[in-house]
Amino acid sequence: MPDLFVKNDSVSPTGSLKDRSFAIAVSKAKELGVSQAFTYSSGNAGISLAAYASRARMKAVVAVNAWASAQKILMMQALGAEVIKLDWDSFEQVDKALAVLRGELRLYEFVNFVNPFRHEGQKTYAYEICEQLGWQVPDYMIHPIGTGGGIFATWKGFNELKRVGVIKKTPRMIGVQPAACAPLVDAFLRGSREAVPTGDAKATIAQSIASDMPFDRGRRPLRAVYESDGAMVAVTDEQIVASILMLGQEGIYSEPAGAATIAGAQMLVRQGVIEPGATVVCVVTGSGLKQPDVLQGMLKEPVAFKADSVELVEHVKGLFGDKKAFSH
Ligand SMILES: Cc1ncc(COP(=O)(O)O)c(C=O)c1O
Repeated sequence: MPDLFVKNDSVSPTGSLKDRSFAIAVSKAKELGVSQAFTYSSGNAGISLAAYASRARMKAVVAVNAWASAQKILMMQALGAEVIKLDWDSFEQVDKALAVLRGELRLYEFVNFVNPFRHEGQKTYAYEICEQLGWQVPDYMIHPIGTGGGIFATWKGFNELKRVGVIKKTPRMIGVQPAACAPLVDAFLRGSREAVPTGDAKATIAQSIASDMPFDRGRRPLRAVYESDGAMVAVTDEQIVASILMLGQEGIYSEPAGAATIAGAQMLVRQGVIEPGATVVCVVTGSGLKQPDVLQGMLKEPVAFKADSVELVEHVKGLFGDKKAFSH
């Protein structure tokens, strides 16, 4: 695939796509006089809220999935947020808990599709991708789906560019979910515009995109896919790990959710849905530093030497083969 591009959001201020939406949503909240910020998060949204709320001098409280990586939770705390761990078996329980908090405490929330401003930041993907491709529009845009806020916002951004006449067409939007927990993929395969609860959110390494039931039954991400004549695809953890290592060969260290897009591209090319000559943009949405444990035990253990060991030189020679470093 000569025209496969990566939009690398692992290099954003807190290492994930969520900074796009929180930069705008927290600024807007500040403008509205909000001083207490609350969000539910699978991990990265809580980290972004923590960072931007601290800069805005707001108190931030994050309810994070209890199984989020230790690194993500520490990062939220280091950035100034109060953290609550939330355990659940079905996302409907989270929905209900949020409704109770909303009703009793009248919290100002930053959850995707509850907060109306997050999409306005997230949609800058579309602007940047067009600009960086010389105002060309990719044929396919591949995005991992958790709440579906990211894919929906990107679709909104492309549509707005088209409406103001900056671009002539829009890409086909492809959503990717982990096979262990893929309610939107299931809905798409049934031809439905609404997801039903399915899968186990704790049964995949792609913890940022694991939800058995997206907000609002996934209506808006599904709409983005149907309207754009796109697709949804599920990928296994094995495919995600292979994609993390493939991205590594391009110098990009991705968390599982981000690498899922590469696995999705591969699957759809194999299935004949995407032509290998197409221009495809895969969003790598988060840094591998956020969830380093996933590769634990999967890669070979480095050989250990004492610094004065005579075997050291022989070993390194063996690793490089016969070639000298300066030979051509
Ligand atoms: C790294 C990463 N990728 C993808 C997503 C999915 O984004 P959305 O919830 O907007 O679908 C998330 C959400 O937490 C994430 O953290």
